[in-house]
Amino acid sequence: MPLLRCEEAFDRFFGGVDNPLRHLGALGLYLLWIIVGTGLYLYAVLDTGVAQVYSSIGYLSEEQWYLGGILRSLHRYASDAFILVMVLHLVREWAYGRYTGFRFYSWITGIPLIWLAFASGIGGYWIVWDQLAQFSAVATTELLDWLPIFSEPSARNFLAPDTVNDRLFTLLVFIHIGLPILMMAGLWAHVHRIAHVDHLPSGKLMRGTALALLVLSLLKPALSDAPANLATTPAETRLDWFILFIHPLTDLSSPAVIWALLFALTALLFALPFLSRRKSAAVAIVDPANCNGCARCQIDCPYGAVIMAPHPTRRSYQVAQVDADLCASCGICAGSCPSSTPFRSREQLITGIDMPQLPVNALRADLELKLAALTGKTRIVVFGCDHGASLASIAAADTAVMRLICTGMLPPSFVEYALRTGADGVLVANCREGGCEYRLGERWTRERLTRQREPQLREKVPVERLQIAFVSANDSRQLHHILIEFRARIEAEADSTKKLQPYLRRTAHHA
Ligand code: HEM
Ligand code: SF4
Ligand code: SF4
Repeated sequence: MPLLRCEEAFDRFFGGVDNPLRHLGALGLYLLWIIVGTGLYLYAVLDTGVAQVYSSIGYLSEEQWYLGGILRSLHRYASDAFILVMVLHLVREWAYGRYTGFRFYSWITGIPLIWLAFASGIGGYWIVWDQLAQFSAVATTELLDWLPIFSEPSARNFLAPDTVNDRLFTLLVFIHIGLPILMMAGLWAHVHRIAHVDHLPSGKLMRGTALALLVLSLLKPALSDAPANLATTPAETRLDWFILFIHPLTDLSSPAVIWALLFALTALLFALPFLSRRKSAAVAIVDPANCNGCARCQIDCPYGAVIMAPHPTRRSYQVAQVDADLCASCGICAGSCPSSTPFRSREQLITGIDMPQLPVNALRADLELKLAALTGKTRIVVFGCDHGASLASIAAADTAVMRLICTGMLPPSFVEYALRTGADGVLVANCREGGCEYRLGERWTRERLTRQREPQLREKVPVERLQIAFVSANDSRQLHHILIEFRARIEAEADSTKKLQPYLRRTAHHA
């Protein structure tokens, strides 16, 4: 997929955590904070009288360029960047097919945000009341006139100087501030059903973005055109192609074509989830008898699909409950459940919360089978995920591969179990940081295996026998290299102690 290739190219430069393409939603929110912060200053110093508005904005750029001018430029460039990031975010979610099932709500609530973003961006340009503002205001109202909603053409309001008055500017400022407030409410709804929302990008990405906007503001400050003059048609203006591209597009076609395009595109975005034929996978199921009410699954679920409810049989106990509409079928909860340990000496391993399509019991049975079949000097088990790099090409007599729905499904005790049951090393092949299909799988796995999050890998487990990798879905070659290096490291360590010391290797045994 071209988008994935592009993300990978960015990975090479930025790394997964700081890759802007992998954190577009968070980057959008960050840009919005810059827009709001700089906008508050502009609002405080702006004089909204029709005669003063132009000069009060001009004053910022000319007399107070070191503060007001920079803030004005930051406001403009952050708005452009916001539009760009929003469109990329939409395209990315669409390209990965993330508009259906449990993501339906996020997708649908995202669509009105596009209209709000463009409406407040276009309105912002009008406040400057220069030639560009006049051009955009007239072009927009002519576009609106085409709709059968106004009794008399509103473009006429802009044709005579005496009809543009102070009240209109107060209204424009009100709209320009009101729409972003509506957008913030919309954004709250947009991420409402998502747990552990990526509210801000990494520190590096934030600093880099702020620096880029600042440099741009200093090199090419936002300036006004000549003042609006309703007695004349605006001369050549410096168009903002990110926000105002609709005007030249209308000139090239007609208002009818533009409205048809806008409505068709919006309808298509709304219809997309209903057109998808993708089958939804089985959702997580809870076994109250094996749930101790610890709530780890609730804490770790990326989509807030788990709630804690009173236990059906044990008074004053709680039990996990899954909301099937919200469940992404990712299995991350099975990885967080303390009952998912393969060391439990039961023929049938039943855990607190499990995935019917890949139960923890089947995972243990499969692991035991593959461990028993492993041969060779250095035997390695690789855990990977359905959405990550392909494991097929690295499977070998000395390498067992185990595919999970997501690596977040891997209880850390499985690593210890593999090492105790015949493996010399365990490689956990996660997706790139920020690239998890279920948002948090790779993060939780890393934190659990590095003992920063419950359930933790036990202290006893020798970390040199565990390799945690972050590999792109397209890059099984990289996974191959990591495996070769890992094996070489284990062997070098073994050579230095003259013999390979298995970690308390024992045969699997269940009562
Ligand atoms: C107005 C600008 C927007 C901002 C600031 C924004 C922000 C966000 C944020 C912060 C998240 C959560 C990311 C995470 O924590 O992993 C998110 C998720 C999402 N957004 Fe947006 N969003 C915007 C517009 C849109 C639009 C226009 C669409 C598509 C119509 C969209 C579709 C989605 C989807 C489908 C998800 C869920 C992703 C997942 O579950 O993996 N967003 N957005
Ligand atoms: S499968 Fe994933 S989305 Fe569903 S309850 Fe478990 S962690 Fe939550
Ligand atoms: S993690 Fe397991 S034991 Fe804890 S509440 Fe969830 S299902 Fe129950």
